Amino acid sequence: MKIAILGGTGSIGKGLALRWSGKHEVVVCSRELDKAMKTADECYTLLSDKGRFCTGISGSMNEMGIKYVDVVVLSVPYQGIVPLLKNLTPYFNDQIVISLVVPMKKNRWFEYTPPKQGSAALEIQDILPKSVKVVSAYHNVPARKLANLDIALDYDVVVCGDNDDAKRAVIELTREISNLRPLDGGRLASSYMIESLTPFLINLAIRNCLSDLGVKFV
Ligand SMILES: NC(=O)c1ccc[n+]([C@@H]2O[C@H](COP(=O)([O-])OP(=O)(O)OC[C@H]3O[C@@H](n4cnc5c(N)ncnc54)[C@H](OP(=O)(O)O)[C@@H]3O)[C@@H](O)[C@H]2O)c1
Repeated sequence: MKIAILGGTGSIGKGLALRWSGKHEVVVCSRELDKAMKTADECYTLLSDKGRFCTGISGSMNEMGIKYVDVVVLSVPYQGIVPLLKNLTPYFNDQIVISLVVPMKKNRWFEYTPPKQGSAALEIQDILPKSVKVVSAYHNVPARKLANLDIALDYDVVVCGDNDDAKRAVIELTREISNLRPLDGGRLASSYMIESLTPFLINLAIRNCLSDLGVKFV
C-alpha cells in the first residue's frame, strides 16, 4: 500500500511511519518540504541502523503527498485539522482516511471538546468528499512507545468506520504492527467514545504518576 501521513513529522505520525515503512511505501507529509524530507531521512537512518528492511519512505508537501496514495493518515492537532483539510480537499479522491485526531483542551485537567457533529471523525467526514472513506483509530496509542522500535507494545486499537472494506484494511494495517490488537468498534458514530478516552487517559496518568497509558480489553 502507499500511505501518506499528514503530520508525519510529529510525535505519533513518525511512529506510524517507522512501523509501516517495512512493508508499505510511506510518504511523510508536512507543510514544509524540508521538514518532511528530514523526518523521512531520520526514519530511514533509524531503520537501517537497526538492520530493519524499509520498503520506501519519502518526504513531501501535504498537497502532493496525498494525491496518489491508498491511505491518508491524519495525525495533526485538532486545532489545525479543519483549515488544513479545507485547503487539501481538491487533492482527495477515494482514499481511505484514518483519523487519529482528538479534540481536547486543557483547563486544570484535559477535557474532550467535540465539535457539533459529535466527534472529530464525523466532522472530518463532513469536510471531505463523499468518495473518501473515513476510519477512526489509534487515538489511545501513546506516541513515545510507538516510535520506539525496541519497546514491545501491548495495546488494543479500536477501529470505527462506516465502510467495511476500509475498516478491514485499517484492521489489517494495525495487525501488522507487532502486539497491537485491532478491535472492530462499529460505525464512525462510535468514534466519540474512543476519542474521549484520550484526555481521560492523560489525566489518569498525571494523577497517578504513570506514563504511556493505553487501552487493553480483557
Ligand atoms: N501524541 C500522542 O501520543 C497521540 C496519540 C494518539 C492520537 N494523537 C492525536 O494525533 C494527532 C497528532 O498528535 P501529535 O502529538 O503527533 O501532534 P504534534 O506532534 O503536535 O503535531 C503533529 C504534526 O502536525 C502538524 N501541525 C501542527 N499544527 C498544525 C496546524 N495548525 N495545521 C496543520 N498542521 C499542523 C505539524 O506538522 P508540519 O509542521 O510538519 O506540517 C506537526 O509536526 C492529534 O490530533 C492527537 O490528538 C496523539
